[in-house]
Amino acid sequence: KRPAGAPDKSLARPVGKVGIVGAGLMASQLALLFARRLEVPVVLTDIDQERVDKGVGWVHEQIDMLLLKGRVNQDKANRLKALVTGSLDKAAAFADADFVIEAVFEEMGIKQQVFAELEAVVPEHAILATNTSSLSVTEMASKLKHPERVVGFHFFNPVAVLPLLEVVRAERTDDASLATAFAVAKKLKKTAVLVKDAPAFVVNRILTRFMGEVLGTIDEGTPVEVADRALAPLGLPMSPIQLLELVGPAVAHHVAGTLHQAFPERFAVSENLGRVVQAGKKAFYLHDSGKPELDPEISELF
Ligand code: 3HC
Repeated sequence: KRPAGAPDKSLARPVGKVGIVGAGLMASQLALLFARRLEVPVVLTDIDQERVDKGVGWVHEQIDMLLLKGRVNQDKANRLKALVTGSLDKAAAFADADFVIEAVFEEMGIKQQVFAELEAVVPEHAILATNTSSLSVTEMASKLKHPERVVGFHFFNPVAVLPLLEVVRAERTDDASLATAFAVAKKLKKTAVLVKDAPAFVVNRILTRFMGEVLGTIDEGTPVEVADRALAPLGLPMSPIQLLELVGPAVAHHVAGTLHQAFPERFAVSENLGRVVQAGKKAFYLHDSGKPELDPEISELF
């Protein structure tokens, strides 16, 4: 069944090569997913060789893990490793790419610049996708000659496990690009939903409101360990602070900032979250033992 609002699937174009801009944690997870499900060449690029090597190395390690778990056989593991490569040369790497997705730093100017660079090197028919968490896809595409090929393709962490994919139709996205995005989503085995190009789309809008209330109680003086444990009766798969660690405090802070700008009366930006980001703290839980424990140092920071 065609997802609600998706155009006729006969308009979809084939995707035989994928480009990923960025080689960070999100981008590397995307490279693994695209290679595994589409079985086409996937090229990761970043700003320096070290990052590219780290990204490709991570993907290859994950393929080894899949082999160990018996999820892929040796032959498939070898093929997947050969499919995922890295490059610093976008012009050469993406000259024959059909679908390029960016997962770089969440800043409009940087993302617009990445799209402008991509437009100069990819083929006419190539889709330019963004994994942005909260920024306007329409604005990101606004300076391009062909904004009709830009789509939002927003994944959730951990990408390999969570089934949802928000597909964003920007103001000028055309039906063929959107149909291609939905065809790719189907091959990735994701549950794709079409969402409006609104600040933080749907999921992050709700998640940020939820996290904002939890962080608000901490800002008002509730100890972090109390606020973190208080929701246990709801049976969520992760506690709020575990989720904050998974999402990344800098990303959560950024999304809260975007939503505060759009809806100042509904979204606050937690002072504590700002302080944690400024301190560069990324991990809140100790994972050494079987069961993760909240890091006791956290209460000093919050
Ligand atoms: N990466 C890859 N695979 C992972 C993983 C990770 N980080 N974490 C867990 N997995 C895999 C495990 O390997 C296991 O796979 P297997 O069956 O092949 O062995 C499977 O997931 C289940 O793992 P576990 O049994 O260890 O753990 P849980 O049952 O507790 O599930 C979870 C882990 C799926 C991460 C679950 O805790 C969960 O759903 N948490 C909430 C995550 C969430 O809400 N994410 C959304 C964040 S918002 C976002 O990403 C948007 C962005 O824009 C901010």
